[in-house]
Amino acid sequence: MLKVTNISKTFFKGTSNEKKALNGLSLTLNDGDFCTVIGGNGAGKSTLLNAIAGAYIPDAGTIEINGTDVTRVSEYKRAKYIGRVFQDPLKGTAAGMQVEENLLLASRRGESRRLKWAFSAGDHEKYRDMVARLDLGLEDRLGTRIGLLSGGQRQALTLLMATMKKPDILLLDEPTAALDPKTASKVLKITDEIVTEQHLTTLMITHNMRDALKYGNRLIMMNSGRIIADYTPEEKKNLTIEDLLKKFEETSGTVSDRVALG
Ligand SMILES: Nc1ncnc2c1ncn2[C@@H]1O[C@H](COP(=O)(O)OP(=O)(O)OP(=O)(O)O)[C@@H](O)[C@H]1O
Ligand SMILES: [Mg+2]
Repeated sequence: MLKVTNISKTFFKGTSNEKKALNGLSLTLNDGDFCTVIGGNGAGKSTLLNAIAGAYIPDAGTIEINGTDVTRVSEYKRAKYIGRVFQDPLKGTAAGMQVEENLLLASRRGESRRLKWAFSAGDHEKYRDMVARLDLGLEDRLGTRIGLLSGGQRQALTLLMATMKKPDILLLDEPTAALDPKTASKVLKITDEIVTEQHLTTLMITHNMRDALKYGNRLIMMNSGRIIADYTPEEKKNLTIEDLLKKFEETSGTVSDRVALG
């Protein structure tokens, strides 16, 4: 479903600020793989997700989604195949629009903008059921402007919107980092349910090693723009936090990185 081959990305090439964010990285995800991504600050995790989404074009290497080479396809065109949730709850939704309007927009992702964007019979009930499932008290707030909701409510809605039309790849960049622990675990649980039910091929960055182990069937660890460990579903089953710390310290380990990993 996702085949990343030997991609590199250097920012500020040829200047004193030159930074190799991705360094010959390769990764293959099979249909339905749910892969968690860990690594210290600056390891290249977000750059990897941005390259897959088309926000940055890699300097070298290729990216295939579902058998199609998308390396040079624009971010806008790629959005049809990709669902995203960012760390910042403000990023995934249109603040000035109602909950219901945001959901309608998401249901039309990738369709022509010339089509009439109107609600159909039954939409209201459908959306009500969808948000009721989040268990965040949104079922009576379909008419509320998104900007008035809490961060947790917004992240859960962003997740619904990202998966409303089944994406080929779901990219989650620390989706619960801005949420309080209780809301974070609620949103993660819903994420896991949606990913499993829809059999979504997913990459999820997290700084919480417990979550990285608990969720998904694959786990990769990044450092200096490379994947330094790639655990298969079989290997992941028996993996512990101690194993991860040991692996990390073998490669780069400093105390601050250890802290950064959660
Ligand atoms: N747009 C950009 N312009 C310049 N440098 C960038 C840009 N984006 C990322 N970098 C640099 O590339 C490196 C990798 O950054 P990236 O954001 O991918 O790390 P990360 O693993 O997501 O870290 P964090 O855990 O802090 O989110 C860092 O040194 C960062 O400063
Ligand atoms: Mg990041």
